[in-house]
Amino acid sequence: MAIETHYKLAGVMGWPVAHSRSPVIHNHWIAEHGLRGAYVLLPVQPDQLAQALRALPVLGFAGCNLTIPHKVAALDLVDRVDPLARRIGAINTIVVEADGTLVGRNTDSFGYIQSLLQSQPDWRATHGPAVVVGAGGASRAVIVGLMDQGVPEIRLTNRSWAKAHDLAQEFGGPVQAVPWAERHAALAGAALLVNTTNQGMYGEPELDLCLDDLPTHALVSDIIYVPLETPMLAAARQRGNSTVDGLGMLLHQARAAFEAWFGVLPAATPTLRAKVQATLIP
Ligand code: ATR
Repeated sequence: MAIETHYKLAGVMGWPVAHSRSPVIHNHWIAEHGLRGAYVLLPVQPDQLAQALRALPVLGFAGCNLTIPHKVAALDLVDRVDPLARRIGAINTIVVEADGTLVGRNTDSFGYIQSLLQSQPDWRATHGPAVVVGAGGASRAVIVGLMDQGVPEIRLTNRSWAKAHDLAQEFGGPVQAVPWAERHAALAGAALLVNTTNQGMYGEPELDLCLDDLPTHALVSDIIYVPLETPMLAAARQRGNSTVDGLGMLLHQARAAFEAWFGVLPAATPTLRAKVQATLIP
């Protein structure tokens, strides 16, 4: 019996999910830390999410990650949602407690902030305003992360005005909605720029954003990781800005999830980064 209890399963539930790089990341850490377990792909259709979640304790899973299209739907299906996930409005990690209780968490804010800090250890929230482009699910996690770090002003701009406006109303505090037409000028005086849209992703057009007004000391980040250097990051690098690609966020959100299941906070090492990077050729 002792052997079974030491073998831990985790996985990523999504539809489709075959493209996920999470198994590479988590299985690397399982091996690195000499743990007994496995991280597997869990293709689950939306109408079977509830059944699949309820099966996790029965099958001996320590938990799972959730990806498209399950991150919001799971809010109503788990037994408890932690306050951070509630604020973000999405669950990317489920932890199965000893009694089978399902707890929903979100590690994306942690992932984004840790990625910034690993890449640019001198970055501080107090350096000045941040401009966030996009108002979807990823944007919510990034904004919560920036707010909790104490960024004094967050200029949120989105193609659809209503989403930016509603998000600014909901979060309040430092978050201000900026009309899409004013996005270029909103870069003046910013210390951080982050793209949370899909623009610049492989197969998509580049983000329509002119960087001329952005100070060259500002940090520019993208949460996209295919390609690793999006056209926005390339333009920023060419004009002298420091840049942070999206692979770091993927690795760091995984660290917190791994810790929740396996009890060890693993590292996002250059070796792991290179291993995942090798799988990113479009
Ligand atoms: P995610 O969960 O990855 O954030 P999402 O919730 O679908 O995905 O959000 C996608 C974001 O990309 C939105 O901010 C979207 O803008 P809209 O709210 O106007 O749809 C943005 N986006 C998608 N296509 C875009 C485009 N062509 N130009 C600018 N923004 C775009």
